[in-house]
Amino acid sequence: MLTPEITKRLRSTAVEILSVNDKGNYTVPTEGLYPFQWNWDSCLTAIGMSNVNEERGWTEIETLFDHQWPNGMVPHIIFHEKNAGYFPGPEVWATQRPTPTSGITQPAVAGFALQKLYQRSERPDAVKTRATALVQAIDRWHQWFYQYRDPDDQALVAVLHPWETGRDNSVDWDSAFERVPTDGVGSYQRRDLDHADASMRPTGEQYDRYIWLVQHFRSLGWSNQSLHDNSPFRIVDPGFNAILIRSCEALAEVAESLGEDAIAQRNHDFSARGRLALGSLWSDAHEQYVCYDRANASLVDSASIGGLLPVFALDDGAQVKKLARRIDSLCDRVKYNVPSHDPDDARFDSKRYWRGPIWLIVNYMLVDGLRRHGHNELVQRLVSSSLGLISENGMAEYFDPVTGGACGGKNFTWTAAMVLEFLRDDVAS
Ligand code: DGY
Repeated sequence: MLTPEITKRLRSTAVEILSVNDKGNYTVPTEGLYPFQWNWDSCLTAIGMSNVNEERGWTEIETLFDHQWPNGMVPHIIFHEKNAGYFPGPEVWATQRPTPTSGITQPAVAGFALQKLYQRSERPDAVKTRATALVQAIDRWHQWFYQYRDPDDQALVAVLHPWETGRDNSVDWDSAFERVPTDGVGSYQRRDLDHADASMRPTGEQYDRYIWLVQHFRSLGWSNQSLHDNSPFRIVDPGFNAILIRSCEALAEVAESLGEDAIAQRNHDFSARGRLALGSLWSDAHEQYVCYDRANASLVDSASIGGLLPVFALDDGAQVKKLARRIDSLCDRVKYNVPSHDPDDARFDSKRYWRGPIWLIVNYMLVDGLRRHGHNELVQRLVSSSLGLISENGMAEYFDPVTGGACGGKNFTWTAAMVLEFLRDDVAS
């Protein structure tokens, strides 16, 4: 249970971190390791920011969408400033954008973030024009997803690079990654290891494959017509799709209230069809959703947190109940929650990025979905664990579920943002 003093300290540290990482109209995830603007970091950060500075929350998302590509894609990194401390920088991506950006995307959480900001706004009339502009931009991004990442109209989109999921080195990608070659990658210098412990980061072999994919897409001129069919890595991830489906639903609701009826209808359809299609990713063996390897036409044998994220999107209470049971069982097997991979799997690694560690943004989305379905005890368990972890170990990038130890970058923007969210309705105190 948090005392009022601890709550006060957590709040002021979180606000301080948001301010230290604030570049004026966008935030960096953390100084050093991630010195630019990242797509889903910014959207989740905007939600947290709305607790302290509503206006600044809006600009965070607007700045991201200022760099949307003409085809609707919203890139995963915006290289606002030069910084040699990150690899791969703009010269590797070579996307020819006025302000350099990467050429791949990230989880589409903007629709969900926009809805939070809009619902919370103290001046809904004043933000109407801004909200409408964002509704239209986010809708274009959603259309891009279903046009280019779901060419056979299956209502589920594929990711073409692990970086698109944000869960860079999840066990989910291991088998498909064996198909990604590394020849011709050439030598390069990783910069992430200047800022974070190598035992907590993806391996050198994984990096070679990340870079091979970037070089391959660059050689295809970043043409969305060719990327999907020509990528050896083409995965339908339940977590990525769940976030998109929930954002489509959220966008439809905001669009409706702004009189944007065509956008509302389109996004209602995307979310309804997506929810139905998620059923094809269910695994009885794992009692959760799993990835589908579209390039190899097979389900992936990996029980990661991505397969639990559908709680964020589902409206079927019976399915959510099954996932709640599964989340509870993961929680029973580690000290801190929620691990990003099943601890009983030999591939679990409690410190290595997305192969076991806890991420507060994931906890937040799980909590949101569980709360919608009335799983209040489990909500309380997750909020309490998240805040306990932070109060003992600081606002790090991620955490070891076995020891609670801080991992990766320090003073992390989206972790701080999520703390402000969890403190809003601190069910732990
Ligand atoms: C990195 O560089 O670690 C990122 O996750 C890529 O977006």
